[in-house]
Amino acid sequence: MSYPWQKPGLTPDQQAAAVVAAMTTDEKFAWLSGPMAIPLTKDDKLPPEAIGSAAYYPAIPRLGIPALQQSDASLGVSALGGVRPGDHATALPSSLALGASFDPQLAEASGELLGREALSKGFNVQLAGGANLIREPRGGRNFEYISEDPLLTGIIAGHSVRGIQSQHVVSTVKHFAVNAQETGRVLADSRLNESALRESDLLAFELAIEIGEPGAVMPGYNLINGHWASENAFLLSQVLKGDWRYPGWVMSDWGATHSATKAALAGLDVQSGANLDQQVWFDRPLREAVDRGEIKATKIDEMIRRILRSLFACGAIQHPAQRGRPIDYSWHQLIAQREAEQGIVLLKNDRNTLPLAPELSRILVVGAHADQGVLAGGGSSAVTPQGSLQFEGVDFMGIQTPKVYHPSSPLAAIRHNSLAKRVDFVSGESLDEALTAAEGSDAVIVFAEEWRSEALDAQGLSLDAHQNQLITRLSAVHSTVIVVLQTGGAVTLPWLESVPALLEAWYPGSGGGEAIAGVLFGRVNPAGRLPITFPADDQQLPHPTQKDPNTTTSLPGVEITGEVFEIDYNVEGADVGYRWFARQQHKPLFPFGFGLSYTQFRYENLQLSQTYGKISASVTLTNSGERSGSEVVQIYLRPVSGRYPSRLVAFKKVTLDAGESQRIDLGIEPRVIAQWDCTQQHWSITGEEVEIYQASDASSVGLTATVTLAAQSFGYPRH
Ligand code: BGC
Repeated sequence: MSYPWQKPGLTPDQQAAAVVAAMTTDEKFAWLSGPMAIPLTKDDKLPPEAIGSAAYYPAIPRLGIPALQQSDASLGVSALGGVRPGDHATALPSSLALGASFDPQLAEASGELLGREALSKGFNVQLAGGANLIREPRGGRNFEYISEDPLLTGIIAGHSVRGIQSQHVVSTVKHFAVNAQETGRVLADSRLNESALRESDLLAFELAIEIGEPGAVMPGYNLINGHWASENAFLLSQVLKGDWRYPGWVMSDWGATHSATKAALAGLDVQSGANLDQQVWFDRPLREAVDRGEIKATKIDEMIRRILRSLFACGAIQHPAQRGRPIDYSWHQLIAQREAEQGIVLLKNDRNTLPLAPELSRILVVGAHADQGVLAGGGSSAVTPQGSLQFEGVDFMGIQTPKVYHPSSPLAAIRHNSLAKRVDFVSGESLDEALTAAEGSDAVIVFAEEWRSEALDAQGLSLDAHQNQLITRLSAVHSTVIVVLQTGGAVTLPWLESVPALLEAWYPGSGGGEAIAGVLFGRVNPAGRLPITFPADDQQLPHPTQKDPNTTTSLPGVEITGEVFEIDYNVEGADVGYRWFARQQHKPLFPFGFGLSYTQFRYENLQLSQTYGKISASVTLTNSGERSGSEVVQIYLRPVSGRYPSRLVAFKKVTLDAGESQRIDLGIEPRVIAQWDCTQQHWSITGEEVEIYQASDASSVGLTATVTLAAQSFGYPRH
């Protein structure tokens, strides 16, 4: 049997139109809203075809259209609330690790892994692509986001989405936009003027969408300039579907829809997690709006067409997902391990403490359940591989999500990598036990952790007092204390001066233990660079005091209580992260872009060219050390007038053997150096003198060249 969309030569738009023309009204509305496909009470029953995941929308067999089965998230195929008992998955390192890799190819490979696992588990939509800028360093979900910089975030998110969709699985990008804080996320109103918005958070999404062509966009829970993201006409209609000509569909976050007509007219296509909202808006109320003539029937068709178009464009209908296909978890674990290895950042290495010599005779490992595994972030993205250690976590949306340790034990991997006669472990709970165990050890490796979760921001940037005390006390009695951080973002490090070596391992995923040991013993030459600034303290932040009014989440059927509260992001505007630090002349603990290596790199001969307003930079990079290694070439720009702080305008990850040189060419994305002109509604580059320079992080300046930018403006074809 053949279906109308199978006629040869049809574009995804034509295929979608053919299906829409054959659909009944009920079939259409069955795709415009749906409950969470996870039973929340024992009386909740899933439709038999639903796999059990974030969402399910029924198949239309007579038209050859499969059910939509949607699963979270960017870090692996999760099974929220244990909805599919026994169904485990590979856990990727946190997106911050991917950001720290500065490596688009790696992002694509990790996306492919995610797409392959999703497809083989029966899913055709992956709720991935976290592309929010890290504006709030204490944000609970920062581990699901990539960086504080729009260029880095956009490129890495875009490639990760591209990888997922190459496997015929639609990916979202989320949570559109300025959804920077978790506590109070359903009532937070992010205030930011249009120019700053376009130059920062929106630019990250714009680049991610251009590169990855995600099938769907998910607006956040929050409000932006007084309007809920899910019914924000400026964001969804004017910018996304208008200026950017986005052809895919917009699905709300779960329990984030507040109206029918208003939301649909503003550009929302699907009400997701409708059982978490006060009403199922996108069924009866929307049908009635059509009957009243408030919404045209053609608008409903357009909403459906967008979904189908995206499914056809990535082949999700032509190559349907099949549950139960074998997954090569060992291969996937190696990919996850490689990602962790590329994302670990060596922050300090006095006296060449690292890599550790394999022949040390006694090593002590302390803390963070390092004997069992590595920490994962909490919430809808939490993956639970087989054998995970679990503790009580957070309750949100009525679902218990645990605090998970992935079963990749750093202790086991350290034992494996070292020839030491003794590698001991103590939990670190007792200071005395740890201090006694440290006596006579050649090295003490302390694992320090900071757990973050969806729906809950970190309270301040500090590690807990016990861990700080543990490290302080150990480093007072031992000269070789090496600290390995597993954190969901930046933390403060009061003991930094007294430890010789420090690694940031983020949440390193299914191969995390091996990856950490690989860096400690030198099998891996660390190449990660910080994708976020590490502040010296909360006082340096644009918003030193957190607004946490205790209105964490929406619960099924429960009206959101509390008042909407504003967060004025105009304080920093587009100068997020390192740009804020430069503007305020604050000295951070560690700057954006920073990271050490076991080899050295030399830069020579920076040259610029400007053709038709497009600037390229080239520079010669030499590995001048004694072992092979990777470097992230970073190019920044700042106006000579000092009118705005430096911006990262290009980067490239390069791997060189010892002694090898390479000429590196980098193109500069014009929107990164432009300002958004609100009156004219276009980008504008001022013809002014700027310095373009190579630097090893956002706080330093290397080779510099000066150029006068060609004045220009460019915009979007008006609709
Ligand atoms: C999260 C989304 C997620 C959805 C479905 C929401 O709470 O914000 O990122 O995709 O749940 O699980």
